[in-house]
Amino acid sequence: MSPTAPARGTKDLLPDDAPAWRWLHDIHASVAAAHGYQLIDTPVFEATDLFARGVGSGTDVVDKEMYTFTDRGGRSLTLRPEGTAPVLRAVLGGHLEQRWRPVRVHYAMSMFRYDRPQAGRQRQFHQVGIECIGDRDPCYDAEVIEVAWRFMTGLRIEGIALQVNTLGDREERLRYREALLAYYNPLRDSLCEDCRRRLDVNPLRLLDCTRDEQYVEGAPLLGDALGPASRDYFAAVLSHLDDAGIPYTRNQRLVRGLDYYAHTAFEFWHTSLAGAQNALGGGGRYDGLAAEIGFPATPGVGYALGTERLLIVAAAQDRAPSAELPAQLVVCSAPGGDMRQARELASRLRERITVVADLSERRLERKLREADRLGARLALLVGLDEGLVLRNLRTSHQQGLSGERVIEAVADELRRPADEAAP
Ligand code: HAM
Repeated sequence: MSPTAPARGTKDLLPDDAPAWRWLHDIHASVAAAHGYQLIDTPVFEATDLFARGVGSGTDVVDKEMYTFTDRGGRSLTLRPEGTAPVLRAVLGGHLEQRWRPVRVHYAMSMFRYDRPQAGRQRQFHQVGIECIGDRDPCYDAEVIEVAWRFMTGLRIEGIALQVNTLGDREERLRYREALLAYYNPLRDSLCEDCRRRLDVNPLRLLDCTRDEQYVEGAPLLGDALGPASRDYFAAVLSHLDDAGIPYTRNQRLVRGLDYYAHTAFEFWHTSLAGAQNALGGGGRYDGLAAEIGFPATPGVGYALGTERLLIVAAAQDRAPSAELPAQLVVCSAPGGDMRQARELASRLRERITVVADLSERRLERKLREADRLGARLALLVGLDEGLVLRNLRTSHQQGLSGERVIEAVADELRRPADEAAP
């Protein structure tokens, strides 16, 4: 592994990409906050058991994709592969549910999965998400979906398909599992290697296979295994979505890659993301997770969306803001000139515009060339014999100024179209 390249499956966020990054996070935080969700953040690593018990062994995430290591104290730790188990641990560990219920939190965090890197799939990636913890009512399932929907509407991304399903409760899923095994077991020898493994460890994931699609078609439906209580709950979620005007497709084949879901499960798909990476995000209800990780039973529902995938789609649709130039104006001190005055003018101007101060000993011509490269429109030359000079770097027009007139003259220049000379 070369020390001069980022580790496989990881990426740097370089300044040209930062405006799009900030744009996405600002919109997510403000849509979530407008619905009463508060910011939360959790440590990058956790006890391995949190994920082994929470996400579930038998899932690809736990069995194949975790970055697990032993620290110097002999503890087994794992870089978080997802945020729901850690956020639930933080909320219940901090007794937030004793203040109000449900607790509404949102997050933007990096996640780690040892996946095969390709477009839209990395080993370190990022998610924005929300969790609504402490109460169980179909209105919360719909609220969570609505926040995700409003967020993506805020990004002005088009072509998102919401897929919803219900996975029922534990008994119903066990019943369904039996039906699936009865259907798939006679087919075992013709299944792909992955599906043969799934048949033994996590039969629901058989529905997710793209290679054995022809068998998925004929598989029994989860809906047929549901009792009236689960059907009613799901019907109520859908009716809330109808009221909110959110279009969805009921997809009985939708299963999620993490084990903690019961009842509502959903995903947001986008056609421009290829194949197995077509999910922009997903989520659902996880009422059993709290007990699984050692807390009193507490219901919850939430979603997470992949930041990198959202940005791929936003860029393809030309929605994300492009690179920004670092400065509108550069204050250039003449070598040997008055630094104090240059500093003082730069800080006054920064109350209104972006300003770089070049107080180095380089020659003035070099400072001007550099200011032009930064994309600045103006340079303020300080410390020349003739006093202050404001130079328009597009037109090369210059004007001499007194200290009192600087703010006004700069504002005048910036108001004018970039290449129009001053009168
Ligand atoms: P997830 O479906 O495993 O759910 O991940 C959510 C999203 O994270 C995916 O749809 C995808 O956009 C992004 N993602 C996952 N893996 C990668 C990767 N290797 N590279 C790039 N992006 C990736 C969860 O993580 C649940 N915690 C969601 C949730 C929240 N459920 C309830 N609350």
